[in-house]
Amino acid sequence: MCGIVGFVGEDENALPFLLEGLQRLEYRGYDSAGVAVVQENHLTVEKRQGKLQRLVEALTTTSVRGSCGIGHTRWATHGRPTDQNAHPQLDCHGQIAVVHNGIIENYQTLKAELMARGHHFRSETDTEVIPHLLEEYGGLDDLKTAVERAEARLTGAYAFLAISATHPDQIVAVRRSSPLVVGLGERTNYLASDFTAFLRHTRRAVVLDNGDLAVIRPWSVEIHDANGVAVERPVLHIDWTLDQAERGGYPHFMLKEIMEQPEAWADCLLGRIERGRVVEEALGLTAEELKAIRRVVMVAAGTAYHAGLVGRVLVESLAGIPVEVDVASEFRYRRPLLEPGTLVVAISQSGETADTLASVSLAKEMGLKVWAVTNTVGSTLAREADTVGYTYAGPEIAVASTKAYTTQILLLTLFAIALAQAQGRAYPELAEQVLSLPEAGKSVLSAMQGLHGLGQELAQHRDVFFIGRGLDWALAQEGQLKLKEISYLHAEAYAAGELKHGTLALIEEGVPVIAILTQPELADKAISNVLEVKARGARVWAVVSANLSGVPADRLIPIPATAPLLAPVLAAIPLQLLAYWTAVSRGEDVDQPRNLAKSVTVE
Ligand code: M6R
Repeated sequence: MCGIVGFVGEDENALPFLLEGLQRLEYRGYDSAGVAVVQENHLTVEKRQGKLQRLVEALTTTSVRGSCGIGHTRWATHGRPTDQNAHPQLDCHGQIAVVHNGIIENYQTLKAELMARGHHFRSETDTEVIPHLLEEYGGLDDLKTAVERAEARLTGAYAFLAISATHPDQIVAVRRSSPLVVGLGERTNYLASDFTAFLRHTRRAVVLDNGDLAVIRPWSVEIHDANGVAVERPVLHIDWTLDQAERGGYPHFMLKEIMEQPEAWADCLLGRIERGRVVEEALGLTAEELKAIRRVVMVAAGTAYHAGLVGRVLVESLAGIPVEVDVASEFRYRRPLLEPGTLVVAISQSGETADTLASVSLAKEMGLKVWAVTNTVGSTLAREADTVGYTYAGPEIAVASTKAYTTQILLLTLFAIALAQAQGRAYPELAEQVLSLPEAGKSVLSAMQGLHGLGQELAQHRDVFFIGRGLDWALAQEGQLKLKEISYLHAEAYAAGELKHGTLALIEEGVPVIAILTQPELADKAISNVLEVKARGARVWAVVSANLSGVPADRLIPIPATAPLLAPVLAAIPLQLLAYWTAVSRGEDVDQPRNLAKSVTVE
């Protein structure tokens, strides 16, 4: 997820607007930033690795004036965060500039083709193919037609803005899946990834549809749909405050990030499954490397560790390869016995967790190969590991991890299928079902309105228990952590069959128990455990797959039926929302819970 902005007007205020807009979009990415402004028939381009402030400082001594420009704040996906990889990206002669959000899936093929035709590439990004395609298709003469022709060559989910030195009064914009909105001003129009960027200047806006191509001038906005037909899109009046707009209108980043999950899952899956097979290279691994793996050890902390617990079941079930999962702070000190043929999988949203990094160093000292599962391109983990699979969830701002967790599980699911493929076992149906998860996620989110009330109820209690078996136990552990960390209630997760070995003593009249039942094979046993706690007076709320019946809970929270191995990503959503609404009911600081930091870079 990156932030893009554009300005085209009759006065020369492009630069101040671009910097202000980028500052408002910095929550979408902050590893580098850049702008391009058309100035006297040439492009002035400035880009800096690091926070936006570095770019602002670089521009204080220049006198860039222009009435048309584009800007970008980056969350790296393809290519490390460097000055060269920052956007805008340019054609060979620096006369066409492009800023882009999303992923161009087929960029390697296009890059090879363009290089063979003599184009000179300067970055590692997927984006750079766009300005070179525009150059190839005559963008300096007719920018709109060149964009149409280039767009027909691209696959992926993205939005981009293009300007050229020869068109000082227009921006051509394309939206395919990634968000893009137009702000309508007085003889000035704006473009941005979301309304926040231009709300101080105008509240009249048009949301581009998927497949739209728009030509924006100071006095006009022409929109063509995916079939090239000129269309009018409704003009909206946005009455959010600036603060609300930054969070997409949601009261907290956590809720925004929970709601973003279907989009994050689609980004994570993009280009990784083809014709019922996982594309190994798209995970950062080769079929040969996967074939050589005899054992897997996963190391991580907190929520990422819980993703590893899900990953263990997936890999063992699908690939039949033994997996250990370890909390990084334990792994690094317990002198683990690791033999050749072991792949160490280090999972970390930030890629900066000190204990996880120390575990990686230890594994490397022992001569083992490390595969990183991380959300952060350019992080220490991404640099230290031998190879990386990115989760592509976009920046996660709330301390409580939500979309990073479910994308970690998705990537581990793909890893499990790829490992099975290497053993000669393909799972084409399962791979296809994985692709339907973003849609299923949307329906879970729209069905969860009632959890608000359950959160209010839960907020009245002191202790909450989570129970489940198999994958549901792994998920229960994440459910209790979410609740604890933002609502400050005491919560514990138990393997449901373990209750009678001690914890059952704590169950008394009215104690809330959240039971998770998504695994048909274990359903009868899990139902007995629900009966056990109910017999002691517990009030049971059950997250249940729609294909399981007869669960004797006080309240059912159904999720759509899917392959049992894929249920955790869907079942995670009600657990996240339950924690969220409980914390809100208690009036806690949801996004910044006490005593916690987003990234734990110390031991
Ligand atoms: O950045 P990481 O994934 O390495 O962070 C690990 C944990 O600190 C993190 O998952 C933490 O448990 C979450 N904030 C909990 O929601």
